Amino acid sequence: MVIAVISTPFSISSVDFRRRPSFRHFSVTRATASLSSPETSPSLQAAPHTVIRCKAAVAWEAGKPLVMEEVEVAPPQKNEVRIKILFTSLCHTDLYFWEAKGQTPLFPRIFGHEAGGIVESVGEGVTDLQPGDHVLPIFTGECGYCRHCHSEESNMCDLLRINTERGGMIHDGESRFSIDGKPIHHFLGTSTFSEYTVVHSGQVAKINPDAPLDKVCIVSCGLSTGLGAVLNVAKPKKGQSVAIFGLGAVGLAAAEGARIAGAGRVIGVDLNPKRFEEAKKFGVTEFVNPKEHDKQVQQVIAEMTDGGVDRSVECTGSVQAMIQAFECVHDGWGVAVLVGVPSKDDAFKTHPINFLNERTLKGTFFGNYKPKTDIPGIVEKYMNKELELDKFITHAVPFSEINKAFDYMLKGECIRCIITMGA
Ligand SMILES: NC(=O)c1ccc[n+]([C@@H]2O[C@H](COP(=O)([O-])OP(=O)(O)OC[C@H]3O[C@@H](n4cnc5c(N)ncnc54)[C@H](O)[C@@H]3O)[C@@H](O)[C@H]2O)c1
Ligand SMILES: [Zn+2]
Ligand SMILES: [Zn+2]
Repeated sequence: MVIAVISTPFSISSVDFRRRPSFRHFSVTRATASLSSPETSPSLQAAPHTVIRCKAAVAWEAGKPLVMEEVEVAPPQKNEVRIKILFTSLCHTDLYFWEAKGQTPLFPRIFGHEAGGIVESVGEGVTDLQPGDHVLPIFTGECGYCRHCHSEESNMCDLLRINTERGGMIHDGESRFSIDGKPIHHFLGTSTFSEYTVVHSGQVAKINPDAPLDKVCIVSCGLSTGLGAVLNVAKPKKGQSVAIFGLGAVGLAAAEGARIAGAGRVIGVDLNPKRFEEAKKFGVTEFVNPKEHDKQVQQVIAEMTDGGVDRSVECTGSVQAMIQAFECVHDGWGVAVLVGVPSKDDAFKTHPINFLNERTLKGTFFGNYKPKTDIPGIVEKYMNKELELDKFITHAVPFSEINKAFDYMLKGECIRCIITMGA
């Protein structure tokens, strides 16, 4: 709820890292979203010079419960939009950076990157979004102008690619959040654990306003990553076998992709047998727990499938599982896709003969989806009942109890917990 609106002047910095559009690459066949002209277009509606005060769950210290605070949210600046968040969910990446193990801690910070909301106001230069639009903020973006955005093969935007270390907005490096004038860091440019947030317009997907935001908010991250790893990268043919390593939210989203692709056998591999029961609801029909076998997992799978699976998708972050996922695909045509994020010092080791024997290894970021161009289509798949989302949502809490969502995830009890703002 907006508690008070204060009128404050704000200045627009001249610092902007956005490149001017290069039309050299304009002849792409895939229709891609592009933002408003970066420097010159007037906005549909000028940003009001107002600061919003609202509730946000602030992480003051690594691993300590979030604290509900009243924060000031500055108006959106150039190429930014301010969004009223209605629903958000918790993903492992929030948990990982909140725990801050093995990274440079950045606190105080407002986490959150899977969410759905409504545009409240837009900053200068934003012409593709307007107040009232239903949107999903996305942790990675699509500027529409760089070489990656012009390539139909890439979603690794030069300007708005995920940056876990940035605590301010790209436009001026400053935070739009503060408490009594003291800045609070952003997270992934989304910071959705706040009733209002400011996001670069290139990280905002405009979706069908009829879509239920309490369901489709999960499309913002993990769901799309696993789904796209199968549908866009592994691309199993109808009836082909798929092995999925890691049956967390991302692996289960890969299973949903396998179901949509019409895959035949879907084999789930996980060290935690508790995951197997849940995975049956996602069409995983056979299970391998590496701990229960003396043989290597590759060999177990080769024996189960007469030489190897047609496709495999690794969703664990374990380099051993990555090697197993590659070596368990059939020679001649097998394709393995890596999704999990490895540790800093990991090295992938396999014999080169595995490649010569016509196995293919690929990796994917965010399921190869372009955030603005492709995410609205995933929401449409849900609306058309092609995609099942409800089975991913195992828990729900009001915003005031957001710390419970962290407990559920820490205990490994939930796939996705929906957090209702304003409650
Ligand atoms: N590439 C991307 O764009 C992208 C995006 C989001 C998440 N991720 C990564 O995807 C991975 C999965 O995310 P999640 O949220 O589903 O995680 P999760 O922790 O919920 O699930 C991982 C599962 O893998 C299992 N596992 C771990 N090591 C294993 C091994 N050696 N063999 C078999 N199973 C093993 C665990 O028991 C767990 O069930 C993470 O590494 C995450 O960082 C990547
Ligand atoms: Zn770009
Ligand atoms: Zn995520």
